[in-house]
Amino acid sequence: MARPVRKAIFPVGGLGTRFLPATKAMPKEMLPIVDKPLIQYAVEEARAAGVEEFIFVTGRGKSAIEDHFDHSYELRDVLSSRGKSAELSLLEEMLLEPGQVAYIRQQEPLGLGHAVWCARHLVRDEPVAVLLADDLVMADVACLQQMVDAHGKVGGNMAAVMDVPLAHTQRYGILDVIDDDGRLARARGLVEKPKPEDAPSTLSIIGRYILDPAVFEELGRRETGAGGEIQLTDAMARTIDRVPFHGFRFAGTRFDCGNKAGFLEANIAFALQREDLGEVTQSILQRYAASAPAAPKTAAK
Ligand code: UTP
Repeated sequence: MARPVRKAIFPVGGLGTRFLPATKAMPKEMLPIVDKPLIQYAVEEARAAGVEEFIFVTGRGKSAIEDHFDHSYELRDVLSSRGKSAELSLLEEMLLEPGQVAYIRQQEPLGLGHAVWCARHLVRDEPVAVLLADDLVMADVACLQQMVDAHGKVGGNMAAVMDVPLAHTQRYGILDVIDDDGRLARARGLVEKPKPEDAPSTLSIIGRYILDPAVFEELGRRETGAGGEIQLTDAMARTIDRVPFHGFRFAGTRFDCGNKAGFLEANIAFALQREDLGEVTQSILQRYAASAPAAPKTAAK
């Protein structure tokens, strides 16, 4: 039995260049899906999976995230004086317990692996979850909860995985699989962003991980990989002989909200699920579908 996962890291130190100018003065992780910021979805997912300590690895210009998870006295006073009790309880419910939250600065955005390594002293010697807020998963059972259940049986390093089209392997960390039961795929190696012709499979890592503390030692070597960044995938690959790695096929739908098309799709999918917005969203979509102009020639990035 693996040790329980009590801590989670939220790396939010990236620059979010694909969302400029929206992200010039606002963190990418504060972009809302309908009316809730991406980072709040990630925190709620971790909470649902039993996480008790929330570690944010932040960077320059990310203070809105700290404010978001803080008390807002002025707002509370205004809402209560206006009798807005539903909004008040919405704000109360999202607050984390005092002492449950820590913020660490990543002084330079040197890559996801580096961001995770910045949290090493807060994690110490226990397994830790990592959630990338721009990967949003819609699921009946929280994606991280599904992973925690599976991790309890196999331990080691684990990442949520999904099959992607061969042409997309250059966007992901890809598994070289030795054993696959349809749910858990054990890997003998991992390759970060391979060209389709070099990809050992199409099984791709998305932004949910459970890490064995051995990964921190490996990240401490500060070796750079694809894009000149310190890559988390490379560190897990280098420990694979002593720490088993499993890809976990989660049940649910993942939206890549780090790119514009994925972000738009997530907004539509989440709005369609809402009691207050589902119907109106459907009629908007029907209206646009009926009078859709020809798609512009340049594809959205
Ligand atoms: P991305 O590859 O999406 O990079 O990072 P980015 O800088 O956020 O966005 P673009 O590509 O410029 O538009 C994946 C995740 O890793 C975090 C990001 O915040 C995001 O959650 N990250 C990345 C860091 O925390 N630090 C880094 O140095 C790099």
